[in-house]
Amino acid sequence: MFYFLIRTRPKASFFSAPDADIVFRPAVERFTGRVFQLPAAKFFPRHVALLAGLRGLLAPGELVPHAHTLHNARRAHLAERSPAQGEVELVGALEALLWEAAVLALFGAPLQPRFRAARRTLLAALRVSLTEGDFDGTVAGRLLEAAGMPPSAAPNCLLAVLWASLANTVPGAFWAVAFLLLPENARHRAVEALPGVVCRARARVHCMGLTSAGASLDLEALLAAVADKRSALARCVAEALRLRAPGVDVRAAARDLALPAGDCRHVIVHQGEVLAVSPYESHMDERLFGPNAAAYDPDRRALRLGDGSVPGVGGLPGLVFGGGRYRCRGRAFAEAELALVVAVLLSTFEMRLADRPPTPAGINDSHDGCL
Ligand code: HEM
Repeated sequence: MFYFLIRTRPKASFFSAPDADIVFRPAVERFTGRVFQLPAAKFFPRHVALLAGLRGLLAPGELVPHAHTLHNARRAHLAERSPAQGEVELVGALEALLWEAAVLALFGAPLQPRFRAARRTLLAALRVSLTEGDFDGTVAGRLLEAAGMPPSAAPNCLLAVLWASLANTVPGAFWAVAFLLLPENARHRAVEALPGVVCRARARVHCMGLTSAGASLDLEALLAAVADKRSALARCVAEALRLRAPGVDVRAAARDLALPAGDCRHVIVHQGEVLAVSPYESHMDERLFGPNAAAYDPDRRALRLGDGSVPGVGGLPGLVFGGGRYRCRGRAFAEAELALVVAVLLSTFEMRLADRPPTPAGINDSHDGCL
């Protein structure tokens, strides 16, 4: 049986219950085994160390060098591949833009996007790179070391991290940009609403040309604006993530549990049954986000779930990064990455949404629809 939790109290205990009640591993190990061929016996004993390692490596204080890598890779990508004008298919274009730069920041070496389709090829490529020491000193390499991952499981573990680092970021980037391009959200795009760093870059667009405008972003100031959850840029990114939250959080009942179902009733969940929270459903809930929960409003009040003590849950993005012990450890990196993409694109290009769906002929062929 698979239960979706839609009441606030069970959601709070979903994220904060001890492992003796609600547990992570049995809910996800079939997925990690099937998709990444990750041997559970080798991976899960090191899972907590892996999460702690990632958290340290991608902590807000560690982001400046990563932001430089992301920014330089994107600047090169944009300079090489952006059409001077014309239409692009935004999802595909952002996927190409995010993939290259994020892989470079986390793995230190490019992995060719064309390999994505083939897990076997990717695993083989990761294995070769591991043997040749390509990841030594990178986030990926240091993570394996910190978790003491055995070499036989290392490529599968990196494949899981690769997936985790990009699967949600691409749709997140799309919505963060797309919401701001909607005419009704024009006031949130206003130059005054973005941090000063972007205003300065934008002012230069006219006199210095597109590429140098991107180069003039002040990354430290940008990261400070992202770290300040009240800044306009951080709120625009968080609100887009809240509204189009990808994914689902899963756990399993570690023992038979009676979950409160309101009106003094309970639902009995048996040991091993899977519990899930949908961030998307939660974010449409007016009890949590106030009236007009489905509208784009970066100025809305932030969420507090339960007594506000569940780690990772709260603020404007709500449950989008999960919560509790198993919450997303790439959150700070992801938020910085998305803010950077929004800031660079809005300060570099005059963008507007096309008023019709893309057709193969409408997309700039010579650039593969890439930015
Ligand atoms: C907008 C972007 C992202 C979103 C919305 C997102 C969301 C999530 C969610 C919902 C979970 C499950 C949490 C739970 O069950 O409580 C998760 C787990 C995870 N995320 Fe993210 N994530 C994003 C970006 C990233 C990035 C950039 C990285 C790495 C650089 C990353 C690394 C991970 C890892 C390793 C886990 C697995 C945790 C585990 O095994 O327990 N994520 N993420």
